[in-house]
Amino acid sequence: MTESPTQESANIGYGVDIGGSGIKGALVNLDTGEFIGDRIRVDTPRPATPGAVADTVAALLNDAEWTGPVGLTVPAVVRNQVAVTAANIDPAWIGTDCQELFGERLAVDGRRRTISVLNDADAAGMAEAAYGDASTDQGTVLFLTFGTGIGSALLYNGSLFPNTELGHLNFPAMDAEKWASSAVRDREDLSYKEWARRVDRVLHEYVRILNPARIIVGGGISKKHHKWLPELTVDAEVVPAALLNRAGIVGAAVAVRDKMRP
Ligand code: BGC
Repeated sequence: MTESPTQESANIGYGVDIGGSGIKGALVNLDTGEFIGDRIRVDTPRPATPGAVADTVAALLNDAEWTGPVGLTVPAVVRNQVAVTAANIDPAWIGTDCQELFGERLAVDGRRRTISVLNDADAAGMAEAAYGDASTDQGTVLFLTFGTGIGSALLYNGSLFPNTELGHLNFPAMDAEKWASSAVRDREDLSYKEWARRVDRVLHEYVRILNPARIIVGGGISKKHHKWLPELTVDAEVVPAALLNRAGIVGAAVAVRDKMRP
């Protein structure tokens, strides 16, 4: 493995997106938001304890021959680089100092590299604002991912207000994500129309409180947007995400370039 000067350069960065089933990494061109070379995907270890995940990330970076700075996403609230929730990941993450964990396990020849760890939806939302449709960095934009849970990123003129966790808004009498996530649609075998009605009610609540001009929807189900976006009645422009499953990795790479430490 050779440390080339390009590994510290400002317009490329490595992002790693840690999810419930897969850990994905790629080198990102930060001028364009495009990947350089192939994305690497490995299965998330089971159980997905912090140590096991960090070892898997170390192996992935080794495969990629990347020794420079790394941005990492986790599906958890990250406060001062400490994971403080674990709704859809191993509970062992709660209280984990991610900077310490990854700093130590991802060190190269005993030297710690620059690391930023942030919430998965926050990373994806930032990437959408930076590289998606140009109008998404104007005013208040709410980015949502519909998957196992509902992830959220709140942006104002492209700047992130981190850890909004709107999937856990108590609605109507339970977490919004327990009623309207994409996983719930599968589990309850809801039609797109039935599910969209639920999403619509949740979005009305988000709009009532936050008044975004635009809502961007991500997650696998955003690829089928034509089946459910027309059903929405909410008073905001709702558009599908442009970067799709690239967004988490790209946002992580942006975060480490900008030395973000939420
Ligand atoms: C978690 C969020 C995460 C979202 C999407 C929710 O259950 O609480 O932190 O962003 O799932 O993965």
